Amino acid sequence: MQSALTSAIISEGKDTAAPKARQTLLIVDDEEGPRQSLRIVFKDDYNLLIASNGRDAIELAQKNKINAAVLDIRMTGMSGTEVLEKLKGIQPSIEVIMLTAYESVDTVRQALRLGACDYLNKPFDVPSIRKTVATAMERHSFSDEIRANNEKLAALQVELQDQRLQEEITRTRGEIYASIIHDINGPLTIISGFIQIINQRMGESKRLEGDDMEMVKDRLRRITRQVSNCIEISHRYLSFMRQQPSAPARINVNQILEDLRELLNVHPSKGDNTLKIQSLDREVELQMNGTDLIQILLNLAINALQCSPDPHIVEISGQLLDTGADFSRIFEGPTDRILYGQGFANTPPLLVLTVRDNGPGIPPEVLPKIFQPYFTTKPPGKGTGLGLAIVHRLLKEARGCMHIHSKPGEGAAFNIYLPATVKH
Ligand SMILES: Nc1ncnc2c1ncn2[C@@H]1O[C@H](COP(=O)(O)OP(=O)(O)OP(=O)(O)O)[C@@H](O)[C@H]1O
Ligand SMILES: [Mg+2]
Repeated sequence: MQSALTSAIISEGKDTAAPKARQTLLIVDDEEGPRQSLRIVFKDDYNLLIASNGRDAIELAQKNKINAAVLDIRMTGMSGTEVLEKLKGIQPSIEVIMLTAYESVDTVRQALRLGACDYLNKPFDVPSIRKTVATAMERHSFSDEIRANNEKLAALQVELQDQRLQEEITRTRGEIYASIIHDINGPLTIISGFIQIINQRMGESKRLEGDDMEMVKDRLRRITRQVSNCIEISHRYLSFMRQQPSAPARINVNQILEDLRELLNVHPSKGDNTLKIQSLDREVELQMNGTDLIQILLNLAINALQCSPDPHIVEISGQLLDTGADFSRIFEGPTDRILYGQGFANTPPLLVLTVRDNGPGIPPEVLPKIFQPYFTTKPPGKGTGLGLAIVHRLLKEARGCMHIHSKPGEGAAFNIYLPATVKH
């Protein structure tokens, strides 16, 4: 197996690569006044498309991807509800807010039935319309993610029917199954933690309001993100089996460390341990898949958190090296091990990421075995012994290298060296 068995736990709604593209808002009103005031209110926040009648609005929706629309219900020519129906036909995911004036409750109801997400009375005040549009935009990205997940799941099912893939799975069944279960277990633990929090908060109450409602929405968003991660994991295993390495992306290390902090704080292994994650004082980029780096750090951090039942300290930090790594004074033996990745070039700048704990350390007789698949010192049923084998594969894929230093009684430090780019 030359390619990495890769897996993922990614950010909680943050984009680690390029800055997020602006969302697009369509404004449809046949009156000049409201059209212009809406333009002024939203011009700095969204890409705006403006139409003064239904026909133009429909044409814009046929040519552009639109996230949300503010639509006057009463217009000359095509009515607001008619436009709404057509817009939903073209792009079902558009979130439409209706602007209403003296309409009957029935007309408003009809608009909601046709898929409008909200309505506001004219004349509207700026804070209310801002809030309504922001909520609609947020809901749009959330439902987009759910829709994309469903599409990806369907594609995965089709791929699994493939004969060639079936043969590959039969050949390496044991290892693949075990690794997938190991990797998916991370997101599942987090999903289950969030569900527990929701359950506790809901208690016996029959309806949710205010802060409770916001909390549930926020947790549902995080759960969806973790479901996306499970899908991403399946995808990466499939491309691994097909021997199609995916192109490495550029990732921002501080962003990944921020995501890691959020994930570890809800992980059950955190317990009473002290977790310190230091951000880098410079913006550093790596050429690798962000999900792979999270998976490497998460495996090392969880091992460190689980190394002792007594409360202890786990620290994650990074340092930029302007010279190559100097391993000449490190002697492999009872306290040190160096793992060179395939193609590790040792050319600066390099980023060293360290996961350190002050737990019991790794005994000299155990140190040579820790990267073997299925090697574990955890009690039966507690560990698969696959975590570090996966870390090793991912590191090879990223052309990195690792130095482990540990003395019994003095904790353990896992240092990973990765080729980096400094952002100026
Ligand atoms: N920080 C650490 N301190 C002490 N021992 C460690 C540490 N990290 C890893 N080890 C040792 O390395 C072994 C292998 O780790 P690995 O992550 O591969 O599997 P595991 O943690 O036992 O199982 P799983 O990852 O499935 O939970 C561990 O069982 C433990 O003995
Ligand atoms: Mg482990």
